[in-house]
Amino acid sequence: ALVPKYPRTTAHDAPTRRMKIDLLLSELKLSDETYGKVRDLMMTAFNRGLGRKDNATAAVKMFPSYVRSIPDGTERGKFLALDLGGTNFRVLLIELEPGSEVLMKSKIYAIPQRIMVGTGKGLFDHIAHCLAMFIREHKLENETLPLGFTFSFPCRQEGLTAARLVKWTKGFRCSGVEGEDVVRLLREAVARKRASEPAVCCQQEYDIDVVALVNDTVGTLMAVAHRNPKCLIGLIIGTGTNACYMEQLDNVELWNEDYNEPKEVIINTEWGAFGDDGDLDFMLTSFDHEVDKGTLNRGKQLYEKMISGMYMGEVARQVLVKLVEEKLLFSGELSEELSTRGNFYTKYISEIESDPPGDYTNVKQVLEELDITNYTDEDCQVIRETCEVVSSRASYLCAAGLAALLQKINRDEVSDALWTAPRINRPQLVDPVMKFHIQLSLDGSGIGAAIVAAVAVRMTNAKLA
Ligand code: GLC
Repeated sequence: ALVPKYPRTTAHDAPTRRMKIDLLLSELKLSDETYGKVRDLMMTAFNRGLGRKDNATAAVKMFPSYVRSIPDGTERGKFLALDLGGTNFRVLLIELEPGSEVLMKSKIYAIPQRIMVGTGKGLFDHIAHCLAMFIREHKLENETLPLGFTFSFPCRQEGLTAARLVKWTKGFRCSGVEGEDVVRLLREAVARKRASEPAVCCQQEYDIDVVALVNDTVGTLMAVAHRNPKCLIGLIIGTGTNACYMEQLDNVELWNEDYNEPKEVIINTEWGAFGDDGDLDFMLTSFDHEVDKGTLNRGKQLYEKMISGMYMGEVARQVLVKLVEEKLLFSGELSEELSTRGNFYTKYISEIESDPPGDYTNVKQVLEELDITNYTDEDCQVIRETCEVVSSRASYLCAAGLAALLQKINRDEVSDALWTAPRINRPQLVDPVMKFHIQLSLDGSGIGAAIVAAVAVRMTNAKLA
């Protein structure tokens, strides 16, 4: 799949050095057949997650989101949204008006590391505190706005407003939250805040009305579907990676709620956990095992750890360290900075790859940050190649998952002949007849939560009417 963009040998490279570098990097260069196999394994994993018999042991859990229909564009009103799940926490105030652009005010609050690995009470108290500050800043004390909560962790939902956290991912490890309903924890924290600081909450009681909890993939899908109802998949490649899609209720064997129209529901696949049952063992490298060893959730989220922003830089760092140890880089001298876990940021990869061919401005900048001075241009080239193999593998792996999802939602339209056609040696991961369009969703996860909240309010009002 990878075509080298630059000459592999230079006059200064002894052939053996070059061969050794190629050999080391080749572990991360996978064939089309391998990516095809990943796609097919992903498809099997989806089906296991959806099946009554296999769900308990399935790695990819396929959680029903309880979001049953995409918005119809008539959603209106003012909503609050909370967005927790990456490096930051956001509070948003969103105004929806049919036919107009979504109006949004938002503020980002940092989540200190000690809170990410502290107690659940500490985390939710922090969220309630940020929310109270936001409410005060926007003079919303006297309103009780419907609130949508984007909580981007694997949850087993029991309804739109009941969601038990299954396990933390992405560097969070707050005690006392796994197995609990996070909407309840949020409500309790707001009640504590109200009791402890009545002054903040003015004359009327500052209260919240959580009407929906969604995963960020679901929020993203809803935000795009709001304008384009043909959107059926939500994909996140951020701190973590995950996807959701619209599925027919008939295929969701564990669905035991009502069977009304529309007979479909958005499934949060939680595909980051793909491989946790050994499915990807055939392709995991020593670098991946090393990355995994340094995480809070060892042995979990293995697919995510090869793809997403929290880990990709560390995969590259592992390869670079190995190259130095083998004396193939920096004449074998390892700086303390580079030898420290987490010090090669994922953003370095995109910076390095955006240098024009043969230009090493950004590589040199990164090397300076890593306290490395004894390098040659050949070293810069090897660093660039390392970044390319790591990021290409991440993109192809993610594409393999997306291809499985596209095939899954397209199953009716794809003819039998195509389904049974041999896939081996095909240059593409999806059947060529399949047409799809990818759209970037800016601010999607937060806005989407407000849209789900709006749909929920509309449905409740319709029932009451
Ligand atoms: C992790 C979470 C998942 C989320 C994804 C992207 O994989 O488990 O819920 O959607 O990160 O943020």
